[in-house]
Amino acid sequence: MRRGVRSDSPGVVEATRESRQEASTETDRQAAWWQDAVVYVVYVRSFADSDGDGIGDLDGVRSRLGYLELLGVDALWLTPFYVSPMADGGYDVADPRAVDPVFGDLDTFDALVRDAHAHGMRVIIDLVPNHTSDQHEWFVQACAAGAAGPERDRYIFRSGSGPDGQQPPNNWVSAFGGPAWSKISDGSAGEASQWYLHLFSPEQPDLNWNNSEVREDFARTMRFWLDRGVDGFRIDVAHGMAKPAALENMDPRAAESADTSAYFDPRFDNDGVHDIHRHIRAVLDDYPGRMAIGEVWTFDEDRFSRYLAPDELQQAFNFLLSQAPFDSDAIQEAIYRTLDAAGRAGRLPAWTLASHDLSRQVTRYGGGAAGDRRARAMALVQLALPGAVYLYNGEELGLPDVDLPPGVLADPMTRTRTDARGRDRARVPIPWEGTEPPYEFSAAEQAWLPMPADWSDRTVAAQLEDPDSVLSLYRSAIELRRTVLDSTDGTLEWSTAPAGCLAFRRSGGLVCVLNASGAPVPLPEGEVLLASAAVTDGTLPTDAAAWIR
Ligand code: NOJ
Repeated sequence: MRRGVRSDSPGVVEATRESRQEASTETDRQAAWWQDAVVYVVYVRSFADSDGDGIGDLDGVRSRLGYLELLGVDALWLTPFYVSPMADGGYDVADPRAVDPVFGDLDTFDALVRDAHAHGMRVIIDLVPNHTSDQHEWFVQACAAGAAGPERDRYIFRSGSGPDGQQPPNNWVSAFGGPAWSKISDGSAGEASQWYLHLFSPEQPDLNWNNSEVREDFARTMRFWLDRGVDGFRIDVAHGMAKPAALENMDPRAAESADTSAYFDPRFDNDGVHDIHRHIRAVLDDYPGRMAIGEVWTFDEDRFSRYLAPDELQQAFNFLLSQAPFDSDAIQEAIYRTLDAAGRAGRLPAWTLASHDLSRQVTRYGGGAAGDRRARAMALVQLALPGAVYLYNGEELGLPDVDLPPGVLADPMTRTRTDARGRDRARVPIPWEGTEPPYEFSAAEQAWLPMPADWSDRTVAAQLEDPDSVLSLYRSAIELRRTVLDSTDGTLEWSTAPAGCLAFRRSGGLVCVLNASGAPVPLPEGEVLLASAAVTDGTLPTDAAAWIR
């Protein structure tokens, strides 16, 4: 019953004994705090601006910790705030152990960690091991050095193919479109003029993880931030650091498929990556209670579970749920496979419906009133699941994607892929209060991305006092999840449900029902603890979910 699991086929999925044991005592539970945490993803540039330059910053985050505590989240994940030329929103890091002045400085960072801890929230930060910025001193040195120089060995430089080396070394394409190789302009001709690999933009050269300096430097970066008190790391492109020695050609079809398991794709998920994760874990193990979650884009359950081996990552995103359309069979299959993939390693999943890389769920599920209803319903589904939940800032306000004029786009993807709308549409700043942009996000007249004129009913202030708002739904669900569910018990039992619906039961007796059928359905017997839409006479409207006990 791996694929195509149907909503009328009852089944039981259980976490293994290991994950139950992990949480068997309060002390263990504290130590493994991440396994059932609700984590709030702060896209720092878009969360709150403290100094009026139109760009969110660390002091801005600090000023809004009270809000996050009210929301009830256990931890924050901060997107990269390191020194960067911002060719890819900070995922092009020029100095991984310093704060970019646009976001603050090390003192601001320390104050943020201290205050977050005082508010009872942990702090996870984003590390980028696969590549650096082309402005990183190592890359500058590599370009200045000769082709045989050891400076080049920290990156992946190769001679070109074809007559005079004028073609890239292989056919790999970048995740943002276009070739994954660029030629450096070092004045040398022919064979001597080398190409460097960049799986993302040309401003993000890939590091060579076979080079011992690269490994040592990453460990140094981890210790630098762990010593400053961070509770964990989100590892960017955690399936990408190892490259096969032969750098053989990829199947070009893999480029157009987010499912990296479907076609031969030697760019990602090479076996050698596990050795790198063991290296990362060995550093973390010196700091009990700290964790790492990896961004792992592989949809093969076995290959995914390898990242969660006892000496590798504690958590990994597998994105199946975020890829599923609003269809009960597709959602059930995504849940089943996600539980299975983590369960094969004896762990609980990390769920997510949204991120700064994905279209927002309101838009993805159809937009307009239907999109609003469905996103509310899916919030109740994800928060009822066993494991951790990562919420992307703004989803708790029901924000949709924003259609932005081409002139303001900053996402490098929109430079290389003219067909792509890019990711800025999901990165528009958070509306806090007021009736017009920038809704107290910033004292500047304009935020770094323009904010829609019709968001006054989606601001935090407008939603806080409204018991029917999306924000109130998230707050109630997060609170109930803590009190009603034993969320470290991974048991999920599928219940029989009408066509187009799904229902599952959790420990603690909570039943979550989702109605995607297009018509109202009767709810099972029980007390309705929470619903994403009004339940009358025991009937759940379409595009809605309810928690019953
Ligand atoms: C994944 C990050 O989430 C994304 O924003 C970034 O562009 C790529 N990794 C490259 O670092």
